[in-house]
Amino acid sequence: MTPESLYEKLSKIIVDHPLCRYSLEKCRSLAPSINRILELKQEKNAVILAHTYVHPDIVYGVADHVGDSYALSKAACQTTADTIVFPSVRFMAETAKILNPDKTVIDPNPNGGCSLADSIDEKTVLRLRDKHPHHTFVCYINTTAAVKAASDICVTSSNVYRILEKIPNDKIYFLPDQYMGENAKNWLKKRGIEKEILVYPGSCYVHEEFEPEAIDLLRMQHENAIVIAHPECKPEVIAKADMIGSTSDMQKFVEERQVEKRPFLLLTECGVASRVNAEVPEARLVGGCTLCKYMRSNSLAAIEEALENPKPHQLIDIEPSIRKRAAKTLERMFEYAK
Ligand code: 13P
Ligand code: SF4
Repeated sequence: MTPESLYEKLSKIIVDHPLCRYSLEKCRSLAPSINRILELKQEKNAVILAHTYVHPDIVYGVADHVGDSYALSKAACQTTADTIVFPSVRFMAETAKILNPDKTVIDPNPNGGCSLADSIDEKTVLRLRDKHPHHTFVCYINTTAAVKAASDICVTSSNVYRILEKIPNDKIYFLPDQYMGENAKNWLKKRGIEKEILVYPGSCYVHEEFEPEAIDLLRMQHENAIVIAHPECKPEVIAKADMIGSTSDMQKFVEERQVEKRPFLLLTECGVASRVNAEVPEARLVGGCTLCKYMRSNSLAAIEEALENPKPHQLIDIEPSIRKRAAKTLERMFEYAK
């Protein structure tokens, strides 16, 4: 890859944050590492899966698949590569390993936490199960392998509403995102479906920051704006949004609706805005830029080092009985999402 070809893509990103902007000089400094990673991928028959929130130099420089959690788990199921490198957050790399026990899965991120995945452990789920024996335990994909193993069904932001609707039990315990659980409950209620959905009090520190007042203010400035929100946002925010969806659904929606020439407000991490700038440059975006510190801890340098010679903590290893139970929880999601 030449610095010029990288710059051609990255220069379209006009999101107002220094970490999202690229000069030709910056692309020149990144090109050697990108080219080394591309060589290493071939040598090791490796594939790189990256979430939309990681830095655009990873998205457009080295990634083979970029998308939301659901699309990336599907890509992990389908790959024929021997090694999966997953520069995103730990639970995503763990999910790839749950689905591919015989492959080498590498997480190069030195800080791959997630405020949702870190908010609950297996013991807490087991304690809650004892307390609510008649509830179906549904976990968001943003959970550790052990929490998935202790749950019945997994969901992602792209299928949570429909899966909660389909589950043949009116009593559901949803964890760990309290807002997503409440949003799902409200969505079902609007469709005339009453389910008892208990929620665990976790939240995403990025999405929790969006406030309904900010939407009102923005609508005053841009009357015809289209507001698109991620289901991790608070119910008061969701109530004011025109569209709710996963990060991939948000981008697809902008692609479809940009012909209307109305401005879009994206209530999610700034990676979606960067991808819209690069891939749908005619779409006009309004609003600020919010970054997830965990996703943004990924770097080309760490990917290169991990591909060259992974350190033990970068190699995902899951205890076999946990892996098997977590795989069942994910398989049920794939079944329900059909
Ligand atoms: P998506 O599956 O919609 O990409 O969401 C993942 C995530 O972590 C959002 O904060
Ligand atoms: Fe986790 Fe929130 Fe970051 Fe998504 S944006 S990875 S939910 S902390």
